[in-house]
Amino acid sequence: MAHGQETILNDDTFLVSETDAKGIVTFANEEFCKIAEYNLEELMGKNHNLVRHKDMPKVAFKDLWDTVKSGKVWQGFVKNATKSGGYYWVFATVCPFKNEKNEQCYLSCRRKPSREDVEKYGELYKTMH
Ligand SMILES: Cc1cc2nc3c(=O)[nH]c(=O)nc-3n(C[C@H](O)[C@H](O)[C@H](O)COP(=O)(O)O)c2cc1C
Repeated sequence: MAHGQETILNDDTFLVSETDAKGIVTFANEEFCKIAEYNLEELMGKNHNLVRHKDMPKVAFKDLWDTVKSGKVWQGFVKNATKSGGYYWVFATVCPFKNEKNEQCYLSCRRKPSREDVEKYGELYKTMH
């Protein structure tokens, strides 16, 4: 994907990733890797902010972390960067859970947002920096 180009998700695509308590990637599904343009090996063990796009306001992620750390589910619109400098929008649902070792983990499941929401949140986020 060329620099600055948007990738639009298919209607039935789900991008899934998991992190530990500190936001270090412990899992990503094939679709996530494909859209983000990373191999699983490149993502594993990295901070999830690897895919952060500079247009995303810091407060959005503060809200995400405050919400999931308090044990609640966070939902929101996120613009992510691809490895080659493109971007893609998702509607993300981030849930806290405990793994088999009783360690705190987080899971994000992302799907395609509507065009209206992409435009709305794109404009809103510009005012939040
Ligand atoms: C399960 C989970 C999934 C996340 N997914 C993303 C993501 O797709 N894109 C993103 O920019 N941040 C994501 N984050 C938030 C990052 O951990 C990080 O807070 C954010 O990229 C901002 O970077 P910073 O905290 O270093 O400022 C996720 C966090 C969790 C817990």
